[in-house]
Amino acid sequence: MPSDIESVLVESRVFPPFPNLVETARISGMDAYREMCEEAKRDPDDFWRCLARENLVWTKPFTRVLDESEAPFYQWFGDGELNVAANCLDRHLNTHIADKTAIIFESDDGKVSTVTYKQLYARVCKLANGIAALGYKKGDCAVIYMPMSTQAIVAMLACARLGVIHSVVFAGFSSKSLHERIVNVGASLIVTADEQVRGGKHVPLKSAVDEAFEMGGCDAVRRVIVYERTGGKVGWTQGRDLWLRDAIAGQPTRCEPVPVNAEHPLFILYTSGSTGKPKGVQHSSAGYLLWALLTMRWAFDSRDSDVFWCTADIGWVTGHSYVTYGPLAAGLTQVVFEGVPTYPDAGRFWDMVQRHKVTVFYTAPTAIRALIKASEAAPRCHPREYDLSSLRILGSVGEPINPEAWMWYYQEVGRAHCPVLDTWWQTETGAHMITPLPGATPMKPGSCALPLPGIEAAVVDDAGEDVAPGNGGLLVVKRPWPGMIRGVWGDSARFRKTYFPPELKGYYVSGDGARRDADGYFWVMGRIDDVLNVSGHRLGTMEVESALVAHEIVAEAAVVGRPDETTGEALVAFVVLKRPLPSGEEAAAIAAQLRDWVGREIGAIAKPRDIRFGENLPKTRSGKIMRRLLRFIARGETITQDVSTLENPAILEQLSKSA
Ligand code: WT7
Repeated sequence: MPSDIESVLVESRVFPPFPNLVETARISGMDAYREMCEEAKRDPDDFWRCLARENLVWTKPFTRVLDESEAPFYQWFGDGELNVAANCLDRHLNTHIADKTAIIFESDDGKVSTVTYKQLYARVCKLANGIAALGYKKGDCAVIYMPMSTQAIVAMLACARLGVIHSVVFAGFSSKSLHERIVNVGASLIVTADEQVRGGKHVPLKSAVDEAFEMGGCDAVRRVIVYERTGGKVGWTQGRDLWLRDAIAGQPTRCEPVPVNAEHPLFILYTSGSTGKPKGVQHSSAGYLLWALLTMRWAFDSRDSDVFWCTADIGWVTGHSYVTYGPLAAGLTQVVFEGVPTYPDAGRFWDMVQRHKVTVFYTAPTAIRALIKASEAAPRCHPREYDLSSLRILGSVGEPINPEAWMWYYQEVGRAHCPVLDTWWQTETGAHMITPLPGATPMKPGSCALPLPGIEAAVVDDAGEDVAPGNGGLLVVKRPWPGMIRGVWGDSARFRKTYFPPELKGYYVSGDGARRDADGYFWVMGRIDDVLNVSGHRLGTMEVESALVAHEIVAEAAVVGRPDETTGEALVAFVVLKRPLPSGEEAAAIAAQLRDWVGREIGAIAKPRDIRFGENLPKTRSGKIMRRLLRFIARGETITQDVSTLENPAILEQLSKSA
């Protein structure tokens, strides 16, 4: 464990679960929770077998549960077959859910449209037929680069219906990032839109796809299907591009779902690691869906009467599990939102909760912190100004939620009658792993509490031994679970090395540091690798460094994180130029230019907050950059440790002054 991980605040407040939720919850009370955990431990195969049979619809029942013979390439329900889209749609058609609203879509400008499950089914079938008519079939890969919309969910499900593997690329990523993903995943189809609309601004998407093509290497892509969101002007390549409305024209509203093996990849989603390019996290069909659905039922304790709203974008795993797959498999009504929390004002979320009578609300700490600030500046945007009485459960995801933000969320949004679920999980885990349960777990602000039944999470040392309560260590999961990552797309060596290093006994290694308190509660302290968390988004410092050095005037760059009140962490870049050290206005102009450059190379989320110039970087005699010292400087702290091993100690002063 690096020693510079700050120990988290010792929090003594405990909030017991609300009796009304305990009474009705699926997992009711701590005894029931513990009993389930015991059951899972005693006979894991039986535990997961029953759940997979009860919760999923199979076209061919499985006989094997977990196959560990190729560990860590685990297989779950490996001889079973099913279709994921059918599990989200068709299964509801002969029930009262058929005519229930599946999606309440609210666009950036406030227009609302709804679809029922039956209508969603018809739209998915039409598009699936359209895609199949273009010659696509099971095993092909499609990149989806779309704004938050009902249409994007339809595109994901249409792929799933055909067994086409999708890879959603967040629409905020640049053409360069998009290009990397198209090439790495080997996409033969792209589904995109003309433009997206956020906070009143139109942002082109189709043109980014065109730029990606210009970068070369996209020859495998035969077709680009374009959804007309705004009617904005787009370039057009005859024979390759086609409008979505033309792709579905005349297609029947029924399409036989293609049964796939339980282990068939449902999707690949790219996420940052500490080294190299973002990696394609591969998820399965059956195990993934089972886990997304179970966590809807266990953590969110989903009810038929719920109006569920997860504010995440489908470009992230949260949007996969808690916008597309989880809520639909559970047959819920959900809100899908195109825009941003601060447009037209910072009351947007609360206004939407009030109008749509949202019962379960799931968002990120960074949004909460931004809205706390905004409501101080504009009191009419404060949640107290809205009727939020429909809410029954609140959730938080993406980064540790600081106790102050937790308390505000609990008191001002939940009016002290909703539990706040601090859900810890990752792209790789598929769905929630450690979270309080609304009907069982006493909550401690700042702690994600206890693992879900069947999840053997632990905090261990570098040799894989459990550490004593109160001590920091690596957050690992000791046993496989159905929703786990199945591979890094095209790089099995990286998969083993990153997630199952041999010295850690075959445990799944999350990359987070954590400690457990005397009650066994988990307190996540953040990443222990070179991954930063900015506004709940994962970024590898190496990625940003590579982007910076790709600029012709940059000789060298090192990127570190600094704690930030709103975004959790902020990026600080230390840059050595291939020209004399700039100062004053010149330095500011170059910094602005480099920030834009990074925005174009990766996406706006990767723009460094601060760029500092120096004639060199602090290095050891063997030439290794001392990032730890840079972290001190980035935080404006004085360096107390011995720097005599540095090749060039004087550089520290120069970099400290360059702020
Ligand atoms: C990383 C995963 C989980 C979906 C969204 C992010 C951090 C996530 C929490 C939490 C403390 C958290 C971890 C994790 N993280 N949730 N409740 N408490 N940290 O998915 O992009 O794969 O990022 O986000 O550091 O490793 P992701």
